[in-house]
Amino acid sequence: MKQADHSASGGMLWTVLSLFPEMFDSVLGASLFGKARDKGLVEVELINFRDFALGRHKVVDDAPFGGGTGMLLKAEPLALALDNVRASDSDVWVVLLSPQGYLLDQQRIRRLSGHKHVALVCGRYEGVDHRVCSMVDEEISIGDYVLSGGEAAAWVVMDAVSRLLPGVVGTQESVVKESFCSDNLLEHPQYTRPRVFRGQQVPEVLLSGNHAVIEHWARRQSILRTARRRPDLLEQAELTKEESDWLAEQE
Ligand code: ADE
Repeated sequence: MKQADHSASGGMLWTVLSLFPEMFDSVLGASLFGKARDKGLVEVELINFRDFALGRHKVVDDAPFGGGTGMLLKAEPLALALDNVRASDSDVWVVLLSPQGYLLDQQRIRRLSGHKHVALVCGRYEGVDHRVCSMVDEEISIGDYVLSGGEAAAWVVMDAVSRLLPGVVGTQESVVKESFCSDNLLEHPQYTRPRVFRGQQVPEVLLSGNHAVIEHWARRQSILRTARRRPDLLEQAELTKEESDWLAEQE
């Protein structure tokens, strides 16, 4: 996908639809994301979709047809809120956060970073009326566990996407060289000063100053760590004959 030119238009716009928009105040004001907002690289618009519920009581949930425990978010308030978002920008990419969604990974994050405007719909209660799914472009789960709502998942998506935008992270190289970017491997162990901490030494090779040897060591550590912790990732990694032999030696 073509990378959007976020610099020309005052940054990437996130629209968050939630029943608890105040949950985002501190988290989006701090750290890297806060700085990116200050620099105008990302913008956030928070919408409480209860404001779109009809009737005096502004009801947003109801019992599921066919029975079952818990309450579902009704389609109408979300539909009206999304109509509004799409009316202001027909190019907006709408994502529903839900445990039933496609699993989030770095590739999906990279694809999202190609949009200039992403709207995140945060579910609550036991789920949402299925007809909401036809109003969104993508459904995403951040992992095989159930959160009490989509808000924490929305932070995860915003954080991971925003740090890919030019200018948000200091050096673009650190974004490219990390886990999951170039080759589907976990990162090797890293150390900073002091050389000995509570009896644990920094591996001698890292003090050698020999970059070729260090790179070789780092690659081997990456591969062995990925094999131990995430064999599912290793299946997609491209290894040389020598690297495959390292794995065989470990068996
Ligand atoms: N809402 C509840 N659980 C979730 C999950 N695992 N991912 C995304 N949204 C969710």
